[in-house]
Amino acid sequence: MSIFEIEIRKMEKDYAIQMGSSNLRFGPGVTREVGMDLVDMAIKRVLLMTDANLSDSFPVQTAIESLTKNGIEFEVFNKVRVEPTDISFKEAIAVAQEGEYEAFVAVGGGSTIDTAKAANLYVSYPNDFLAYVNAPIGQGKPVPGPVKPLIAIPTTAGTGSETTGVSIFDLTDRHVKTGIAHRYLKPTLALVDPENTRTMPPVVAASSGLDVLCHALESYTAKPFNQRPLPERPILRPAYQGSNPISDIWSLRAIELVSQYLIRAYQDPDDMEARSNMILASSMAGMGFGNAGVHLCHGMSYPVSGMVRDFYPDGIKTDHPLIPHGMSVVLNAPAVFRFTGSACPDRHLNAAKLMGANTSSIGDEIEDAGPLLANELIKIMQALDVPNGLSAIGFTEADIPALVEGTLPQHRVTKLSPREAKADDLAILFKDAMQWW
Ligand SMILES: NC(=O)c1ccc[n+]([C@@H]2O[C@H](COP(=O)([O-])OP(=O)(O)OC[C@H]3O[C@@H](n4cnc5c(N)ncnc54)[C@H](O)[C@@H]3O)[C@@H](O)[C@H]2O)c1
Repeated sequence: MSIFEIEIRKMEKDYAIQMGSSNLRFGPGVTREVGMDLVDMAIKRVLLMTDANLSDSFPVQTAIESLTKNGIEFEVFNKVRVEPTDISFKEAIAVAQEGEYEAFVAVGGGSTIDTAKAANLYVSYPNDFLAYVNAPIGQGKPVPGPVKPLIAIPTTAGTGSETTGVSIFDLTDRHVKTGIAHRYLKPTLALVDPENTRTMPPVVAASSGLDVLCHALESYTAKPFNQRPLPERPILRPAYQGSNPISDIWSLRAIELVSQYLIRAYQDPDDMEARSNMILASSMAGMGFGNAGVHLCHGMSYPVSGMVRDFYPDGIKTDHPLIPHGMSVVLNAPAVFRFTGSACPDRHLNAAKLMGANTSSIGDEIEDAGPLLANELIKIMQALDVPNGLSAIGFTEADIPALVEGTLPQHRVTKLSPREAKADDLAILFKDAMQWW
């Protein structure tokens, strides 16, 4: 092949999508089945991972009872850090390496499931910590092959981490979140049990539910898969491929469910119908964005989380300041959708309609769809008592250059924005996001 042909090939666009499917069981009480699943997989010894707040919780105790009843040998690692870091990942990896476990069981929110994915990866294929971390922050090496079995039991509704091949952490010395992403990291089985979210503190119900909404909105409005460059080999096709007709189905249904049930689930944890539909929406959005990707709301959230100073959210027991993940995402979202609206107005309009927007004011002015969607987001943020913009969680305009600098290397997600956001654009978006009402 001549250099000229190689250049042409590089400019070619992708023509295919690959749907990595998730093996998922949904239903109230399925946590009780985990021991039987491990027996059926011929697994005898596992590491059960969770965070300290959840150690004595109903979901963890139910999983432990099931392991015991089914004769599975296990140890519990309950030191997952809420909003994990490279340091906490390395601690978990070290424990996982010591015990010769055949498989992992993660019971918790995204922090726990992501920590279990990383522990599993480095136990299966030991390497320098940054080897598999997304480029340009890490070396971005693909995961070499299948990892050990991981059963994920989410307790938030949620990150959708039980369905994705993504593991996110905060790189401490750079004050920025990044991650590892590969299809091989997808959990072997997700046990999605609505009983497990009953005890979520309201701030977690709100922030994790808004994370679901942003997953769905971002994957639906992401740059289409056929505008990405064609990979050299099928294995190099990224997990986050851009919006595509299969992911759209999951994302659109998730937007509907969140719009219908999130406020109810937040206001009344005993509303089983609302809770069930929220955890279902979380997994559905996961199946959508796990293959399509997310874009600027998430890309901009990573430095917001990494630069936290002294924010301690009401209702979360924590020994370190933290901004709940979904909160760090949604606070950027109205600014992002105002900005991206012009790139695919029909999609922004459709999403706003699903959220219940009155579209009569739009008429033929479809370019107003971005602001319309942003307004729907602001309404739901107010109903869920979300802080009023980045300024309410400790940021000032003096932080904007650092926030922009932390967003620019998040290529895995920022490149999927339907409208390119350069440094100057990001600065305007962060300025917009300082206060919402
Ligand atoms: N892998 C992915 O695809 C993906 C996607 C989105 C977000 N994430 C990551 O996931 C993390 C956030 O996860 P999260 O929002 O699920 O929350 P989390 O795991 O960080 O937990 C938040 C808090 O809620 C508590 N909690 C969780 N479930 C509870 C329950 N049922 N009852 C009582 N307390 C409960 C935890 O102890 C913790 O204090 C972030 O690090 C984020 O970057 C990963």
